Amino acid sequence: MNYKIIEKFVNENPIDDRLKGRIARPKFTYIGEDVLNKAISAFLSGKNILLVGSKSTGKNVLAENLSQIFNRPMRNVSFHVNIDSQVLIGSDTLANGNVVFRDGPVTSACKCGGLLVLDEINMARNEAMAVLHSILDYRRIIDIPGNDLIEIHPATRFIATMNYNYEGTRELNEALLSRFVIIDMPTISAKDLNKLLKDNYPKLKKEIKDQLVKLFFDIKTKADSGEISDSAIDLRGIFDSLDLVKAGLKLDEAFQMCLVNKVFDPYEKTLIRDVIQARFKENLSGGDVFEDYDF
Ligand SMILES: Nc1ncnc2c1ncn2[C@@H]1O[C@H](COP(=O)(O)OP(=O)(O)O)[C@@H](O)[C@H]1O
Ligand SMILES: [Mg+2]
Repeated sequence: MNYKIIEKFVNENPIDDRLKGRIARPKFTYIGEDVLNKAISAFLSGKNILLVGSKSTGKNVLAENLSQIFNRPMRNVSFHVNIDSQVLIGSDTLANGNVVFRDGPVTSACKCGGLLVLDEINMARNEAMAVLHSILDYRRIIDIPGNDLIEIHPATRFIATMNYNYEGTRELNEALLSRFVIIDMPTISAKDLNKLLKDNYPKLKKEIKDQLVKLFFDIKTKADSGEISDSAIDLRGIFDSLDLVKAGLKLDEAFQMCLVNKVFDPYEKTLIRDVIQARFKENLSGGDVFEDYDF
């Protein structure tokens, strides 16, 4: 990682005090040097970055880490919900009886040199396409019929994410795709997942940690082979389970809430319950999962 160049970028692009609260404070440090280096180079060279990968490959965590590394206020637009150009650009609203223009996430990010995350961009509807084409253009001007021209602050960056293998996934059209450099997000390795668990739960017992890593890959294998749906691959679900156990719940109850119940098909539920039962005894509680557990 070239710290000197990053430092120079940060110094040359200071941000207003009132925006400092929007700089991400990621709960997780992204683990994976190769991907991080690629992302940093792309960011420094002003490219739009498209992160492509299945669920739980750390796409949003990486974006948050970049916001922090480069000191950029971050906003997130999820294209999963219906987003049109007014939502993105902003619109006139009433404030104290006067009509004022309220910026949307695109205009805000473009004015202050922010980082805009275009989450699940492949779900974007046509109503948003004109805006996306315009903001991702190399001219760095937003030019949308019916709107004023807006210059994009040079430190503004766009990071889009895209899940493939996902129900409802559409391919991006070529014109949009050509505006990005694309990073393939690998699934975290067993070694790195071990590290992630250790960093975030230093008191987690080693035998539990090892089984959790295996559980994640058991579920992933089943999802990759199509036996269960992708929504079951869920690292966050594993972390959430540990949080619940910390707060006093039994491990199997926590797994039920955070992993099993994330699929709705009864047969898939059984499959997940089976892989859990093959790796964990029933009735484990805080003291079985964490060292020095005292609740
Ligand atoms: N390489 C990684 N480094 C750090 N965390 C990761 C990594 N891969 C997955 N995760 C974890 O997976 C979970 C989901 O991350 P998220 O960024 O929301 O994934 P995505 O957006 O790809 O679905 C988080 O708990 C995150 O810590
Ligand atoms: Mg995501």
